[in-house]
Amino acid sequence: MELMDVIRQRRSIRRYKSDPVPEDDIEYVLEAARLAPSWANSQCWKFIVIKDETVKQELAKAGNGWIAQAPVIIAACADPTKSGVKGDQQYYMLDIGIAMEHLILAATERGLGTCWIGWFEEKPAKKALGVPEEIRLVATTPLGYPDESPKSRGRKELEEITSFDKYE
Ligand SMILES: Cc1cc2nc3c(=O)[nH]c(=O)nc-3n(C[C@H](O)[C@H](O)[C@H](O)COP(=O)(O)O)c2cc1C
Repeated sequence: MELMDVIRQRRSIRRYKSDPVPEDDIEYVLEAARLAPSWANSQCWKFIVIKDETVKQELAKAGNGWIAQAPVIIAACADPTKSGVKGDQQYYMLDIGIAMEHLILAATERGLGTCWIGWFEEKPAKKALGVPEEIRLVATTPLGYPDESPKSRGRKELEEITSFDKYE
């Protein structure tokens, strides 16, 4: 599939079939994340592949409870000390953002659904996954075969979001 078709096809999926995700596909999406660029190539990330029902349920209690229905959840963690800082800008959030989007687009290419999950109580979520105190749990995504086909949620027109030479 052409990259632009993958980008156009991707949707946030919030209903999943129980069919298992082939190991080869899990490895494929993780490989896409692994190849992402990062601040000074620091690769501050760690990805946790969650399949255990008890762990999924525990993680889901921290927010977006519906994610537990997906056969797999992938959590993206970052070590902030391994990435850059510029003023109040902490690059680990960008590093994870880029890696997760690589993962999500690779999943779309394989016919798998995902949904960026940014809202959760970090403390109990970290506890569920045994994430050390100094490591941030930035995002998770369910991963599985979609059981819904949402329409595009729409985007602003290009003219609204671009200007030339100066901010307008
Ligand atoms: C950083 C970020 C955090 C998000 N967090 C959540 C979330 O916690 N729960 C959820 O259901 N969707 C979450 N989303 C999904 C957005 O709601 C979704 O991308 C947006 O509505 C556009 O829909 P689409 O992804 O289908 O194009 C998040 C998306 C991003 C980029």
